[in-house]
Amino acid sequence: MCGIVGYVGARPAVPVLVEGLHRLEYRGYDSAGVAVPRRGRIAVTKVAGRVRDLRDRLDLPGAATTGIGHTRWATHGEPNDRNAHPHLDASGRVAVVHNGIIENAEQLRARLSADGVALASDTDTEALAHLIAASLGDGPLEDAVRTALRHVEGTYGLVVLDRTRPDELVVARNGSPIVLGVGEGEMFVASDVAALVHHTQRVVFLDDGEVATVKAGEYRTSTLDATTTTRTPTTVDLESGSYGLDGHPDFMRKEMAEQPEAVRRALRGRLDTRFATAHLGGLDLDPVALRSVRRVKFLGCGSAYYAGQIGAGLVESLARIPADAEPASEFRYRNPVVDPDTLYVAVSQSGETLDTLAAVQELRRKGGRVIGAVNVVGSAIARECGSGVFLHAGPEISVASTKAVTTMGVSFAMLALLLGRVRDLSAAAGARVVAGLQALPERIEAALALDDEIAGIASRYASARHMFFLGRVSGWPVAREGAQKLKEVSYVHAEAYQAAELKHGPIALIDKDMPSVVIVPDDDIVVKNVSTMEQIRARGGPVIAVTTVDLPAGVADEVVRVPRGEAVLDPLVLGIPLQLLAYHTAAALGRDIDKPRNLAKSVTVE
Ligand code: F6R
Repeated sequence: MCGIVGYVGARPAVPVLVEGLHRLEYRGYDSAGVAVPRRGRIAVTKVAGRVRDLRDRLDLPGAATTGIGHTRWATHGEPNDRNAHPHLDASGRVAVVHNGIIENAEQLRARLSADGVALASDTDTEALAHLIAASLGDGPLEDAVRTALRHVEGTYGLVVLDRTRPDELVVARNGSPIVLGVGEGEMFVASDVAALVHHTQRVVFLDDGEVATVKAGEYRTSTLDATTTTRTPTTVDLESGSYGLDGHPDFMRKEMAEQPEAVRRALRGRLDTRFATAHLGGLDLDPVALRSVRRVKFLGCGSAYYAGQIGAGLVESLARIPADAEPASEFRYRNPVVDPDTLYVAVSQSGETLDTLAAVQELRRKGGRVIGAVNVVGSAIARECGSGVFLHAGPEISVASTKAVTTMGVSFAMLALLLGRVRDLSAAAGARVVAGLQALPERIEAALALDDEIAGIASRYASARHMFFLGRVSGWPVAREGAQKLKEVSYVHAEAYQAAELKHGPIALIDKDMPSVVIVPDDDIVVKNVSTMEQIRARGGPVIAVTTVDLPAGVADEVVRVPRGEAVLDPLVLGIPLQLLAYHTAAALGRDIDKPRNLAKSVTVE
């Protein structure tokens, strides 16, 4: 949420910054801006809107070889030009870009106003610029940043530019990611490696509470209380996928297409055909510890929560231990009973989601056993958990999550298999699941091949203002995720409902203008789902069935049939046509698929 970039080197900085902002735009696209030193002052260009609007305003390439930039997802203050970052202090000496939330911003702003400072925006970030400028003496800029941050409560990843030191930047991190990219005689700063991997793969991830001074050929890191830290660069693994579109029209399409490969990566080296189980080395739980788990609870937000609900179903089916999922955002606020026999699983693509991170911190404080199921290596949640399962989905740029959700399901199937095989899941049943997982990439390929058929369905139903997504038991979280995907990329109102609950109220909404997408996995209740479809059709409601089984003729207006396989894994395959339905509906309605309105990837605010 919010993308920040910085550059110090020998090249013109502005093109580097703008390109970095383009790559980070998925983190927020309400406004964009850059600041560079120019003839003894700081020149700021910023605009409400997209990075392309910013670029249109800039005089490229410009002479400056240092600069900072920002793409914003608005928190404090509406998304207009004056609230766009970078923010300057009153004298124009210091410019700041910031990702995060300053919780005591109102008090800081009130104090600054009382001291006669004229505030130029409604943002929390502007207070930082004034505080840093007020702390500047003859000493290093980083000392002034440290002093200012002592007054600040909240989260930040920030980059600071001082017009009197045009060859350096100071960065600080607390709760919002900051990564340094180490080039040859040049340095990059970003909130996400996506902005810098095409320049350098040597990176340094800052820790919370760290500050760094960055110059063209060097960087120095220390803590907020000025103790020097040692950070040697690590090399980013680019094998797991690229950060570019690679010929695809948008990232959602690219990432849906990457799913078979992402699943292969998630499974690689983790299936044991000899003992019909899975090896999840990062879990750090031996068979005795695995056997001591009496309950599993998945915690995540949005699609990660729905994936957790799929995981809970898999754990109950395969390991026969109680399991459930809860939004991390609820869990953290309700003073939950933390049970030592429960294995808590924190689920997150980005590893940055603030509510999920806070739930993990709460669990650790109370002695809970928590593992991560995270995509981004080195992210805050991965680090806080210390052990877990990496998803290996590869970089996910599209705001709407697809391949990460699918690899979450795959990871949970392996976890469930492992928990099952140290209990009473038979070797034969385990072998079926292993074979089912091995066959999953081909099943997903077959589901993706339904693209044209689903595009046709989407064009027939794109004019609907509302849709139901219905499922029972293992189909229910699939329905929830399907509704979520449709809502976020097409803005069509979609409501997910447990199919059997429909007749207890919502069936009143059924008419010819209310299509229902009914998820029908290969389970013992197919016949119940068939009656739901009949009840809807009897009331004139159109039905789109998404299934792995042969349905009776005429039971639905549209039938999307994905290939049968290991039935317990059906929820992982049935999600694919729903992604395609959301995608094609959004395309038919002319939506900006990778940048749905009001949204941003990585929700680092409460
Ligand atoms: C929906 C979507 C969101 C995320 C949620 C959690 O497509 O992407 O609902 O699933 O914001 O994000 P992570 O997984 O990064 O914690």
